[in-house]
Amino acid sequence: MLDGSLVTLILFGLFGYLFYLYLTWNYKYWWKRGVNGPKPKVISGTFPSMFSADKNIVSDMCNANKNFKETENFVGMYTFRQPQLLILNPSSIKEVLVEKFDSFHDNDISKNVDKEVDEVLSQSPFFSQGDLWKNSRKTIEPAFQRDTVKNSYQSVLEVCGRLVNFLEKKSQYPPINGINTKDFVLRFTSEIISHVIYGSEAGDFEKEEASEFHNLATYPFARSLFTNLYFLIPKSLRYRKIPFLPESTVEFLNKHIQSSIQNRKGNKDKKDFLDFLIKLEGLSSSQISSHAITFMIDGFETTATTIAHTLLLIARNPECQERLRSEIDAKVEADGHLSFENLNDLPYLDMCINESLRIFPPLLYSTKVCTKDCQLVNKNDQPVLVPAGCGVVIPTYTIHHDEEYYSDPEEFKPERFSETKLKSLSDQGVFLPFGLGPRKCLGVQYANAQVKAVIVEIVRHFNVKMNANTRTDNQIDGISYVASLEGGIWLDFEAIKKSA
Ligand code: HEM
Repeated sequence: MLDGSLVTLILFGLFGYLFYLYLTWNYKYWWKRGVNGPKPKVISGTFPSMFSADKNIVSDMCNANKNFKETENFVGMYTFRQPQLLILNPSSIKEVLVEKFDSFHDNDISKNVDKEVDEVLSQSPFFSQGDLWKNSRKTIEPAFQRDTVKNSYQSVLEVCGRLVNFLEKKSQYPPINGINTKDFVLRFTSEIISHVIYGSEAGDFEKEEASEFHNLATYPFARSLFTNLYFLIPKSLRYRKIPFLPESTVEFLNKHIQSSIQNRKGNKDKKDFLDFLIKLEGLSSSQISSHAITFMIDGFETTATTIAHTLLLIARNPECQERLRSEIDAKVEADGHLSFENLNDLPYLDMCINESLRIFPPLLYSTKVCTKDCQLVNKNDQPVLVPAGCGVVIPTYTIHHDEEYYSDPEEFKPERFSETKLKSLSDQGVFLPFGLGPRKCLGVQYANAQVKAVIVEIVRHFNVKMNANTRTDNQIDGISYVASLEGGIWLDFEAIKKSA
């Protein structure tokens, strides 16, 4: 007879073995299909950086690219035990995002956004699927055209003016560790959204603490393992029915959007984003809120990240900043502002922003889901079946930092993005900050107007300087889904004295 403790030991061993089998069961998935890739490790799969506080998971994508790009167009990866395909070759990226869009029209994350749990979010374009996405995008697309953006430009200038006052006050008694640039830029983007959607000021420049609106808008991008899990393996949280947006956020937004619609009813001539939403009155209130939320979720952090990193890069490169200032000063009009039209006539500014988007693409990678079986062909001409349901990762950051496409990829060289070079890089599929194809970012024009206007105003009024508190390399934060310099961006803003 076996004694009790031996039986317990055997049962533990058996359970441990079964658990190990469960964790590793899928690890031959890609091998069986003839797809090469990094060797998975138990639990972390091919993303060991997922459990590291200082390494972002894009470092695993960069390693896979370095080790396999010569022989493979794509490799098999595993997040925990879930197989995914990581696309390495820019032509294959274009195939997924453009030519075979029919099979890859949904974002992987949208599988996890349950209509019942996240009603508002599930109707916003980035998070919606199939026909719902098509309709949602079609409904909202006109609000992103040039004229609507132009009609919001006055609000952008107003907020820029308040930002300059805020920085002027700060620069009188400059903090020894520099000004937390991401923080004040987030205040800027939350003010813009508050103006454009709610037609009111959030008050973010007038008080030390961030406004309620700012805090709610920041939440979805909080630096957490939770957000990483959501973006990388959406299935993981589906079963728990955890909403991506907390109920309190949805309530807050619903309340404000409804009251701003009421307030605006008497004045429908503004022809801006809010006016557009009002004209969608036939829609349910949750549909209207979901469009307002689109602005907040998709445009808030991405735009702020771009502004903050562009300021960082011109602070590190004073000669580029000088050249930029000369270009801007030559275009400022008699009223001391830059017209909306002139914003699009600043080629060196465009080059600096694009180079910043290359080094620090706000969305480090994107994940699509295959919705209809299709074939992709690997470098050895072997066709591989990608089954419906399979996740596909587009490693934007990795491509942007690949020496084959960008020499000295960590160096800030705006000249890489002259107008003709920009077109060629986009056509090759090696410059993807806004994505590609039918699901490309809808807010490019809004983003450009905000990013350019604020950089113009800051560069005109301040010398932007590095503070010793900011690191000098490009290491990105280990956990964030959105590009973010590790340790934060702390800069000095020295007011430029205008000669009388
Ligand atoms: C510099 C700032 C921005 C960057 C880098 C950026 C980047 C992106 C990327 C990479 C995507 C995913 C594309 C894909 O799935 O292939 C996206 C989608 C989207 N963005 Fe942006 N974005 C920015 C600003 C904005 C702004 C300001 C708005 C709104 C005002 C906005 C609205 C959207 C929407 C609605 C989608 C979903 C499109 C769809 O799925 O059909 N974005 N953006």
